[in-house]
Amino acid sequence: MSIKPEEFNVFKIPHSRMKQLVKSCNQNLDTTDFANNDALIMLLANLGTIFHEFKLHEEIENEHIMIKLKTKLTAMAIYNSAVCNCHKDDEFSPLINLVEAGYMYLNKTKSISEKISFGLRLRKALNKFFKKFLPHMKEEEEVFQPLLFEHFTEEELHEMKNIVIKLHMQQ
Ligand code: FEO
Repeated sequence: MSIKPEEFNVFKIPHSRMKQLVKSCNQNLDTTDFANNDALIMLLANLGTIFHEFKLHEEIENEHIMIKLKTKLTAMAIYNSAVCNCHKDDEFSPLINLVEAGYMYLNKTKSISEKISFGLRLRKALNKFFKKFLPHMKEEEEVFQPLLFEHFTEEELHEMKNIVIKLHMQQ
C-alpha cells in the first residue's frame, strides 16, 4: 500500500489539538494551589471545558469516521475487533463527574487537607485516563488511518477530513 499524503489524514490535526489539551490539563493540575479557592475554580472550569472537548472529539470520530469504516468493513465481511470495540467505554463521564464534584471543595467547611486530597484524586484519575487516551490516539493514527486509506477513495477521505476538521473548529 502506498503512503498517502497528509491531506487525507483524518486524525492528525484533531489529535494534535487533543495532545495540546493533555499538556494543558497536566500544566493546570501541576500549578494549581488546591488550598486557594480562586485557583480551584479556575482549574475546574478549565478541566470541564477540556473534558467536554475530548468527549466531542470522540463523538465526531464516531459519527464521521468510525461508523463509515465499520460499514465498509462489514460490507466486505471483514471483522476487526479494534474497530468494533473502539470508543466502547465511556471514559469521559467519570472525569466530568469528578470535576463537577470538585465544586463542593470550594465550601468553607472543607479543610485544606480535603482539598489537597481531592487534587490527588483528580491527578490519579487523569493519569489513568491519559494512559489509555494517548495509546488510543496512536492506534487510530497507525492502525485505523491505514484501514481508511485501504478502503476509501481519496475523494471520500478528503471530504471526511474536511467535515471532521470543521466540526472540531466549531467547538
Ligand atoms: Fe481520536 Fe478516539 O480519539
